[in-house]
Amino acid sequence: MKRYIYKLSKEDFYEFLIRYPFGVEVLKRNGEILFATYEPVEELYPLKVEEISTDWQNWKEKFKPVEVDDFVILPPWKKPVFIKPGMAFGTGLHPTTRLCINALKRYLKEGWSVLDVGTGSGILAIISKLLGASKVVGIDISEEAVRECRENAELNGVYVECIKAEPKEITEQFDIVVANLEIKIFEKVLKDIFPKIGKVGIFSGLYKEEDLKRFSELLGKPFTEVYEEKDWFCVILDMNNTR
Ligand SMILES: C[S@@+](CC[C@H](N)C(=O)[O-])C[C@H]1O[C@@H](n2cnc3c(N)ncnc32)[C@H](O)[C@@H]1O
Repeated sequence: MKRYIYKLSKEDFYEFLIRYPFGVEVLKRNGEILFATYEPVEELYPLKVEEISTDWQNWKEKFKPVEVDDFVILPPWKKPVFIKPGMAFGTGLHPTTRLCINALKRYLKEGWSVLDVGTGSGILAIISKLLGASKVVGIDISEEAVRECRENAELNGVYVECIKAEPKEITEQFDIVVANLEIKIFEKVLKDIFPKIGKVGIFSGLYKEEDLKRFSELLGKPFTEVYEEKDWFCVILDMNNTR
């Protein structure tokens, strides 16, 4: 595979980006912009053409979102999620949310149902839908969160049932239950969450080994997997596959 290196002034580059239908890799931004494409650009003459490895995954990772004013240019394999700034927790910046997203990516199968306990902005419920879930219900005790969950789901063009409720009020079972809460809340509601898990439970918001140990006592079952980021833990319980 070949990589084509070009240089343009800032103004010409931004104009080019709006017209160019594929991703570009920005290499250097000074007064001018040095960038690469993976197809030759008819209208431009490359500074250099390089032979590169065709390791597809690495090749894809090189494409970062490019912001031009209020546009964000993304390669087609990136999936945008719109979250309106608000009061509810869940922008994707916090490790506890990110660990849940990784777990959903790994465990959620197309057509499965999902209950998101403590939905906040609705981010995990929305991503579950984008990952192919069938029915998704997001519950929260905060009125504001329920409103934001609805707004954000609509913004992303997906339907999520956003309800003001606690886990004990939910009567159905779901294939996946994801709960990004806190140990103090798990102490109160884990017993109500547990019966709603059909196949996989994802529990996040556990800080340091101390919370993890306490959660293990509360669960009273071996974990299938534990994810960690910056001392935050996320526990997976796959009902068909525990160690
Ligand atoms: C840490 S935020 C998680 C937000 C979002 N799911 C995320 O992962 O980014 C926890 C949410 O749980 C809600 N919450 C707290 N106690 C709850 C309970 N007993 N039942 C349902 N939701 C609860 C809070 O209002 C808050 O919105």
